[in-house]
Amino acid sequence: MAGRIPRTFIEELLERADIVEVINARVPLKKAGRNFVARCPFHDEKTPSFTVSPQKQFYYCFGCGATGSAIGFLMEHDHLSFPEAVEALAGHYGMSVPREGGESEDARDDEKRRRRDTLLKLNQEAAVFFARCLRQEGGKEAVAYLRSRGVDGKTARRFGLGYAPREWRALCSRYEPAVLLEAGLAIEREGGGHYDRFRHRIMFPIRNRRGQVVGFGGRSMGEAGPKYLNSPETPVFHKGREVYGLYELLEAEGRPPRILVVEGYMDVIALAQQGIRYSVATLGTAVTKEHLQLLFRYSDSLIFSFDGDKAGRKAAWKALEEAFPLLGEGRKVAFLWLPEGEDPDSMVRKEGAEAFAKRLQSAEPLSEYFFRALAEGLDLSRIEDKADLHKRVTPYLKRLPQGAFRAMMRSRLTELAGHAGVQKGNWQSGHDRQTAFLPRPSLEDRLVALLARNPGLYRRLPESLRQAGVGGQCGEFIERVFSEMEQNREQRLEDRLRGTPYHQRIRVCLAQKEFHSLQDPADEVLDIASAMEKKVYQKRLENLARKADTTGLSREEKEELRRLMQWKHA
Ligand code: UTP
Ligand code: MN
Repeated sequence: MAGRIPRTFIEELLERADIVEVINARVPLKKAGRNFVARCPFHDEKTPSFTVSPQKQFYYCFGCGATGSAIGFLMEHDHLSFPEAVEALAGHYGMSVPREGGESEDARDDEKRRRRDTLLKLNQEAAVFFARCLRQEGGKEAVAYLRSRGVDGKTARRFGLGYAPREWRALCSRYEPAVLLEAGLAIEREGGGHYDRFRHRIMFPIRNRRGQVVGFGGRSMGEAGPKYLNSPETPVFHKGREVYGLYELLEAEGRPPRILVVEGYMDVIALAQQGIRYSVATLGTAVTKEHLQLLFRYSDSLIFSFDGDKAGRKAAWKALEEAFPLLGEGRKVAFLWLPEGEDPDSMVRKEGAEAFAKRLQSAEPLSEYFFRALAEGLDLSRIEDKADLHKRVTPYLKRLPQGAFRAMMRSRLTELAGHAGVQKGNWQSGHDRQTAFLPRPSLEDRLVALLARNPGLYRRLPESLRQAGVGGQCGEFIERVFSEMEQNREQRLEDRLRGTPYHQRIRVCLAQKEFHSLQDPADEVLDIASAMEKKVYQKRLENLARKADTTGLSREEKEELRRLMQWKHA
């Protein structure tokens, strides 16, 4: 029998999932103030008394009293058992469900929670310590620096800014090294001993949406070291999932009409200082799907600010790609292109909040940017180029959830490039609830769905990807599936995984209708494989880059990093 699902995982899942998205895919919701409403799916009614709260992440029916979380909704609505509902929801967010056995596992779960609490408490105390240091004698230079950048005391307080003193062991002499290390606040010396990671830096506490300090950014005030140091990934801090400034933003407005996404800590601070209090920053990483899911919980309208240069355009395109599967349902994404050499901080200080807000209004909508970018270099008066545009656009359109937005994007394509005759592949039409709920399953789940149906294709995967998969670099689920495939047995994958923690997940994969009638599964598998390879390389690259910044690299690792950089820029 499959083991128990740990409580911490359920919490993490509910933290990540968005109940509005889940319900809306089955019962179209209408916005009503802070909440969403619909006619209750659980009893007959003429006027809507079924209410979904994005803030509280639960639903409630004033008519029949039905209530619950996203998981509860799936259980009721889709008649799933608890573990099935958890699997379905986790699968949608690309998470795999861990399983545990008896009481010792429960104890481990408690232990994990205790450790998280310890780290959060330490971070909080460190933030208070840094803030105090800013106001003491030693913090004078830091205060002067902030002033020189136009930041006043009120803004500094609002963001809990602080100063990490020059000493090597300001924190290390006050707290237990093991905990400081785990929190990423201390670094281990090679010969033994520890020292503070952040020294003589302006400190930016990073708070999660509940206001808990999960990590820090630290800016140097001068020449020494990298401009910014950030907390490493810890059990409570994941750069790909947090954004800077969200808590402060939500304190100002619970449901902001739009959120501006910028790149730097100082951009958020400078904008807030000028009265633009609805910006957040990614933490030195590219925009991820998790970032977008998080932000779409609070606002339907996201504006990304990027440099107009090559790196900026690349980052913007990445954000666009991540956003695609999440669009529709009234969600909007736009891009604000800044003149070369400017960032939101310099811009807003130069021209003031009003002019800056005007720029935001004329930000380029995603749809325009999309077609502009893909039509680049094409002459749309020529049939050949029109055909090219179709070829470039079509794969993206498939990734949009069904609905009005996708239909409009398709008709825009027709406007620009005419009809392409019979479409290859199958445009699904109408309301297919299954696929509507799962607009785009994770790469891993799609690959497994295909391999389960066409086991012969496993051998067609690139060798490097197979190795990475078996080696666990693509997650436990893939590790297990690939290991089974390596053994090349006759039995169906689904049967081989029976009785393992992965059985539910593979059933969910196989339920994806999208894969029932594919014309060209081999093409699809290779597409997915190359996307997964990219992901693996990218992750490895990030790990090595981080390691290079912290503990340094071995000769082999340096060589590997060099190869990965070449790949990236190829
Ligand atoms: P920027 O260099 O644009 O930061 O890097 P900024 O906020 O505008 O900095 P100022 O204005 O010079 O003070 C954008 C983001 O990239 C990450 C940080 O998260 C930063 O806010 N970054 C940058 C690092 O992590 N390390 C660095 O050395 C530089
Ligand atoms: Mn800047």
